[in-house]
Amino acid sequence: MGMLDDRIAVVTGGRGGVGRAVCERFEAEGATVYAGDLSDGGSVGGDAPAGSFLPLDVTDEAAVMASFAQVRDTHGRLDILVNAAGIEIEETIETTTLDQWNRIFAINVTGTFLTSKHALPLLRESEGHASIINFGSYDGFIADPELAAYCATKGAVHALTKAMACDHSPEGIRVNAVCPGYVDTPMLQSFFQENGDIDSLQQAVRDVHPLRTYGTPTDIANLVNWLASDEARYASGQLWVLDGGLSAQVQQMRL
Ligand SMILES: NC(=O)c1ccc[n+]([C@@H]2O[C@H](COP(=O)([O-])OP(=O)(O)OC[C@H]3O[C@@H](n4cnc5c(N)ncnc54)[C@H](O)[C@@H]3O)[C@@H](O)[C@H]2O)c1
Repeated sequence: MGMLDDRIAVVTGGRGGVGRAVCERFEAEGATVYAGDLSDGGSVGGDAPAGSFLPLDVTDEAAVMASFAQVRDTHGRLDILVNAAGIEIEETIETTTLDQWNRIFAINVTGTFLTSKHALPLLRESEGHASIINFGSYDGFIADPELAAYCATKGAVHALTKAMACDHSPEGIRVNAVCPGYVDTPMLQSFFQENGDIDSLQQAVRDVHPLRTYGTPTDIANLVNWLASDEARYASGQLWVLDGGLSAQVQQMRL
């Protein structure tokens, strides 16, 4: 018996590094999974990923409505929405163009708003299992250098998560956010590639964590799976940080 038997789930960014791991775990736990993404390859490429591909641009309201209409026509309900679509822009505010600012907010924040808004009528048809899981970041609490717009979007997702939980938990829809630290996905690999010697950078990133490692998509999928399951029936409105202890420590000289 799986933790998500007979559940219907939509995972945006479901062909990305984290989203793909979430789709795999959900399927393994017995859910029917739709991976909403811009393309079937997503950020990872390759073949045979888990879940049915649902073409979806989270910034396009008509496309979002069409995707949920397809789920409604097939299943009449939705149990789980995971908002994992996201992008990162490595700039200070001074070097961020208005177009870049609007684009990152359109995907990371407006996308979460649009998918959640149009999923709500279907989530209300879930029989006691409705759960929305947004993607924040430890960067929504503390800042990394040259990630200004990204940090701002994640702070917005954190506040939105709490607001959605206040409004919709009373009708049985739990809303939480997962806030990862460094996770080994194409997003992190492109950060390594753009910032110098990959091996020494990877080691430096490991060393800065109290656990001396960074996360894998599977680590994140484990938490998302728990939040989506009935074991988390008492969990709503919270920002679940999963970062190897990174945000717990003050940076100090190692003696
Ligand atoms: N990787 C990390 O270190 C890390 C850390 C903290 C938070 N996060 C967050 O986790 C989430 C997943 O990140 P990831 O590392 O898997 O990134 P990723 O780049 O591997 O995957 C993101 C996916 O989102 C999709 N996407 C982009 N724009 C979209 C749109 N308009 N509509 C639909 N899909 C779209 C991409 O095609 C891609 O498949 C993001 O919200 C990210 O901000 C990641």
